[in-house]
Amino acid sequence: MIIAVDGPTASGKGTIAQALAAHYRLPHLDTGLLYRAVGRQVALNGGDPDSPEDALAGCAFADALLAEPELRSEASGGLASRVSIHPAVRSALYDRQRAFALQPGGAVLDGRDIGTVIAPEAEAKLFITASVPARALRRFLEMQNAGRAVSLVDIEADLAARDARDRNRADAPLVAAPDAALLETSDLDRDAAITAAIALVERLIPA
Ligand code: C5P
Repeated sequence: MIIAVDGPTASGKGTIAQALAAHYRLPHLDTGLLYRAVGRQVALNGGDPDSPEDALAGCAFADALLAEPELRSEASGGLASRVSIHPAVRSALYDRQRAFALQPGGAVLDGRDIGTVIAPEAEAKLFITASVPARALRRFLEMQNAGRAVSLVDIEADLAARDARDRNRADAPLVAAPDAALLETSDLDRDAAITAAIALVERLIPA
């Protein structure tokens, strides 16, 4: 069974995808991390994330980079959102994601285009949303707990900019697949969001 979990930054999709993977005993891939690694590699190369050539060169990152805590920073998220616009970057990362989705037994993947591009045949597709203020507050508390000094106003502005870039890009924009189940998490805590997600998957998959 393939479960596709898409949605904007800080919607709760990562937490939900992890919980679904544990619940159904499936491997999980956070595809945003791949784009973050590309962005980080471009920065390490001294390249320009807005240049298609430099961004493509960043796709040759070493797997060890995926474990770097720096990838979780807002700065890496911003770089990821810039490199992810380039079609060459998206196609360079396609095979890895597709192979993960197609592994025997199935998988859970979270990202922006899992249900639309990477695994359109997924048995269960969830599209997770939450308001910008709710997502900004979540990200703010997450960063504070991680000991990072951040401002709520900056996070809100950054989220709005990233949303706009992700939704408006020509290649694989952030959009719900027509057959995705929508889950709005603004007023749900972690456990309630996970319970609702499992209920949706149960409804979507054949018994
Ligand atoms: O999910 P996360 O916030 O880690 O993703 C970082 C950025 O990577 C997103 O803002 C988006 O631009 C890009 N991304 C993407 N497609 C995916 C996953 C992430 O374009 N499947």
